[in-house]
Amino acid sequence: MPLTPVLTTRYAEDRSWTIETYERTEGYVAWREALGMTPDELVTLVKDSGLRGRGGAGFPTGMKWSFIPQPKPGETPTGPAAKPKYLVVNADEGEPGTCKDVPLMMADPHSLVEGVAIASYAIRCHYAVVYVRGEAVHAHRRLVAAVAEAYAAGHLGRDVHGSGFDLDVVVHAGAGAYICGEETALLDSLEGMRGQPRLKPPFPAVAGLYGAPTVVNNVETLASVPFVVRGGSAWFKAFGPEKSPGPKIYSLSGRVVHPGQYEAPMGTTMRELLEMAGGVRPGHQLKFWTPGGSSTPYFTADHLDVPLDFDSVAAAGSMLGTTALMVFDETDSIVEATMRFTEFYAHESCGKCTPCREGTYWLTQILERLVAGHGRATDLDLLTDTCDNILGRSFCALGDGATSCIASSLKYFRDDYVALLPPDEQGRLGRSLRLEPVGAKA
Ligand SMILES: Cc1cc2nc3c(=O)[nH]c(=O)nc-3n(C[C@H](O)[C@H](O)[C@H](O)COP(=O)(O)O)c2cc1C
Ligand code: SF4
Repeated sequence: MPLTPVLTTRYAEDRSWTIETYERTEGYVAWREALGMTPDELVTLVKDSGLRGRGGAGFPTGMKWSFIPQPKPGETPTGPAAKPKYLVVNADEGEPGTCKDVPLMMADPHSLVEGVAIASYAIRCHYAVVYVRGEAVHAHRRLVAAVAEAYAAGHLGRDVHGSGFDLDVVVHAGAGAYICGEETALLDSLEGMRGQPRLKPPFPAVAGLYGAPTVVNNVETLASVPFVVRGGSAWFKAFGPEKSPGPKIYSLSGRVVHPGQYEAPMGTTMRELLEMAGGVRPGHQLKFWTPGGSSTPYFTADHLDVPLDFDSVAAAGSMLGTTALMVFDETDSIVEATMRFTEFYAHESCGKCTPCREGTYWLTQILERLVAGHGRATDLDLLTDTCDNILGRSFCALGDGATSCIASSLKYFRDDYVALLPPDEQGRLGRSLRLEPVGAKA
């Protein structure tokens, strides 16, 4: 499977982030074409392309846009249809292992700005916000500069290219909280409140930013849109499987010879990507890996040929997430890696709901004592029980995601946990034991 640069096609250009380079390489051509179409035609085009959200959940993008209530011709709009529409770009990128959006904004910020313009026109939005991760100061600066260039060139602002369409784009810096990547927490944060998820329904499409209809889309999703407009839906669908098509940026990190961003069609396998990345470091073997970041269940060497698209990865027992492929070899402790991820979730839990707030704390205590060699025979079941009480019982997907690494590591590498137990505790395994209180110090 060859590399297929589409989204990354300008990365190697000299001063790739400037509007001069962008326009020299067909930039903003799609925006002019889009302005010659009706908003409904654009929504249909994106629907037909099969583009699915690149922020993790894989929701069909065109369908999301079509949920925005619009005034009906000849009728006075009421309710949500009468309100302004907003587009919010989720550029919060905080999932451990995920590192595709910040490089995209650094190397080719105008592809995002152009995608924002086209999406705004399609959903009849005149005010779009890019919510950038607080720590990514460099990406924030670059986007601010790109938006200013786009205004100066007449791609944004009043009466864009004489179309009568007005669009303002604001770049907003978050404050570095993982939960603010969850779309409703992001909206609360944008409104100046503490970033915590909102109860759904109502969904953002009906009551989002300032209670008005809002589309929230990921950076890579929106940066794909100009290519859909230029290439057409059939061209886009030619990349990868029919139900999960398109070019995709895969981020390889960890024990690989050449870590980095590899763009290839959806459905490329880990075996193929590892070949492109020079393989696992010499003299070592792959032990486990994440297909989509720390919230997605681990895969093992047995999963190297699973096509990396939304449906195939789900069928194999994990999630495509953000295609953040973290690679671990036989020198890495899966229990310790899992402990580190769990510490992250306990730290980032927003505290709104009890299963996640308390459960991630308890999970951390158990994993830390296992890694320290003070584990108890009951701890393996206690981990599973605690995960069962978080999964499906939490208010948002952060809680569910926190259980993925624990449940999957126990499924594939239970012996690695057992090996960390003191010998007397190993001898007690398999006997009927009373569960000990989690909070008790080892
Ligand atoms: C805890 C948590 C963190 C998230 N972080 C991000 C993020 O950093 N970027 C992102 O695009 N989506 C993130 N998401 C997913 C968003 O809620 C949302 O599904 C996404 O922005 C929708 O965009 P898309 O349809 O283009 O994928 C996160 C979800 C959860 C539960
Ligand atoms: S699952 Fe965790 S992050 Fe989500 S609302 Fe509950 S406490 Fe907050």
